[in-house]
Amino acid sequence: MSESNSIESVLHETRVFPPSAEFATRANVSGMESYKAMVAASEADYSGYWADLARKNIDWKQPFTKVLDESNAPFYKWFEDGLLNVSYNCLDRHLATQSEKTAIIFEGDDGKVTRVSYRELHGRVCQFANGLKSRGIKKGDRVIIYMPMSVEAVVAMQACARIGAIHSVVFGGFSSKSLHERITDAQAVAIITADGQFRGGRAMPLKPAVDEALTMDGCESVHSVIVYRRIGASIELDDDRDIWWHDLFNSQSSVCEPEWVSAEHPLFILYTSGSTGTPKGVQHSSGGYLLGAMTSIQWVFDYKPTDVFWCTADVGWITGHSYVAYGPLALGATQVVFEGVPTYPDAGRFWKMIQDHKVTTFYTAPTAIRSLIKLGGDLPKQYDLSSLRLLGSVGEPINPEAWMWYYNVVGQGRCPIVDTWWQTETGSHMISPLPGATPIKPGSCTLPLPGIQAAIVNEAGDEVHDQHGGFLVIKKPFPSQIRTIWGDPERYKKSYFPEEMKGAYLAGDSAHRDADGYFWIMGRIDDVLNVSGHRLGTMEIESALVANPLVAEAAVVGKPHDIKGEAVVAFVVLKGARPADAAAVKKLAEELRNWVGKEIGPIAKPDEIRFGENLPKTRSGKIMRRLLRAIAKGEEITQDTSTLENPAILEQLKEVVR
Ligand code: WTA
Repeated sequence: MSESNSIESVLHETRVFPPSAEFATRANVSGMESYKAMVAASEADYSGYWADLARKNIDWKQPFTKVLDESNAPFYKWFEDGLLNVSYNCLDRHLATQSEKTAIIFEGDDGKVTRVSYRELHGRVCQFANGLKSRGIKKGDRVIIYMPMSVEAVVAMQACARIGAIHSVVFGGFSSKSLHERITDAQAVAIITADGQFRGGRAMPLKPAVDEALTMDGCESVHSVIVYRRIGASIELDDDRDIWWHDLFNSQSSVCEPEWVSAEHPLFILYTSGSTGTPKGVQHSSGGYLLGAMTSIQWVFDYKPTDVFWCTADVGWITGHSYVAYGPLALGATQVVFEGVPTYPDAGRFWKMIQDHKVTTFYTAPTAIRSLIKLGGDLPKQYDLSSLRLLGSVGEPINPEAWMWYYNVVGQGRCPIVDTWWQTETGSHMISPLPGATPIKPGSCTLPLPGIQAAIVNEAGDEVHDQHGGFLVIKKPFPSQIRTIWGDPERYKKSYFPEEMKGAYLAGDSAHRDADGYFWIMGRIDDVLNVSGHRLGTMEIESALVANPLVAEAAVVGKPHDIKGEAVVAFVVLKGARPADAAAVKKLAEELRNWVGKEIGPIAKPDEIRFGENLPKTRSGKIMRRLLRAIAKGEEITQDTSTLENPAILEQLKEVVR
């Protein structure tokens, strides 16, 4: 399936699947009339609507009296004088009623299953929080978490929240350089990591990347590295700086009074790619963030106390924050946490786990769905998936073909699919079906959640209602939104609230609405690629490439990919001459791919590298990216090339080196 085919099929998509009467009757939001009533209530009294939800969902140590403070827009504040603790809301408040309920069913890469009750999880979080305190870590300090998917990763995040430390989780697949960039930007005082991680039957070290990052400049702020033993690798510990998790943990008490913080106290920073420069540290609040995570699980995932919830995202991404580490725990849910990969030991792993743990609610990314179709479209039929009642999709547009397979083969035509549109910056779902209300259409994320005022506007910021679409914006501030970019408030304003948008939040996606008002996401409007649901800045990959001594210049574009959604194509100009023979070119391309893997992380490795003596440029020296995109797709160049300084270069760049 190429992009043009998939866009075609989306544009011609007319199938509609209303919720079954059976699902609708039992749903938290039942029928479109209920949804419309919620929307109307939120519009009639916007801040009152959110305030009621915040009182109902969150246990406040001290109730808030102010709801929304817009006096310093776009630096919005919600529930600011309210005091709470997020970890208290996720753990302590369940102890009286359901302390023995399973909070986490952890399945290791090797299939070993461990169950942790709310009582145990609470104890472990308190114990680890005391350990952090014993290292002098306190409210407001930044702590990097660089860990595999594990109960301990969740414990580490919750323990930071408990003492008011601000965590920044770095995905375990990022390189030491990416890690270093985040440590220095956040000026972290501590790093919580593991000796390594298991993935697909292989043990892979993690701690060496931390050591390497800490040898680079600017990490003087880091005084502690806490190492969880997962793979049993022999690693070096620095006596002054490093300590084993178990050594820190075992001597601590399991009583730890939570640190009561303002609702606006930063809960975490999470770095994500933007269109320019280095990754942005997206800063989230405590109160508003928690509220968004909770309400979306109640509405979109139709949460019931009997559910077994499974979100497959890594805690290194926002999805793993809101729908693994915080949201499900705040609701007292039982959830699955999985260390491994969907294809090990075979492509039936997800389906087997759904069967074994009787998962009711399954949330994953289109890229996983597409790769599992390819590896075994019939495999789900070999497992008992009758426990499932709801399916979710996140991270990128889902093409109708993959949607139909998910619906018919995994969901057996019984489970609604919630295609949830949101971002690192929004903290929780923004546009999504409510499964007991919204009739769903394959490929559309449908309608905004109650209290979210999404719209499509043109370049002047005026709302458009035609089929061509425009920029996706959110008109009013909402509780779970980004508060600022860590250390760079100006960039926050410029990126998300450019003047033309007249105060609305600019999401960075283009979208259109159909006659029913349904939203269809078309893609990014900036230089951000979405590769397997991961955000990558083309600029970041370009800077990684030009940091290589052999490279003079580089331009990176995306190209449609059957499984990953988008693939990375790099156009490279070498400092010296292009190697003459094909084998040498191939070797060099491989070298550069590995270089990018080391600079950023394996997820950013270009799928294709093409060498040219130059890049197509205008006479003023601007790289013509639209031409590069066409070349990458293998399209005939029918575009106007009259402004091109060096047309001969196009022929060279058509040559692919894999
Ligand atoms: C894209 C992930 C279409 C979009 C939660 C957005 C989607 C970016 C969807 C955010 C969806 C996310 N349909 N596109 N359901 N969900 N996207 O910050 O381009 O990693 O801007 O957050 O992913 O990616 P992020």
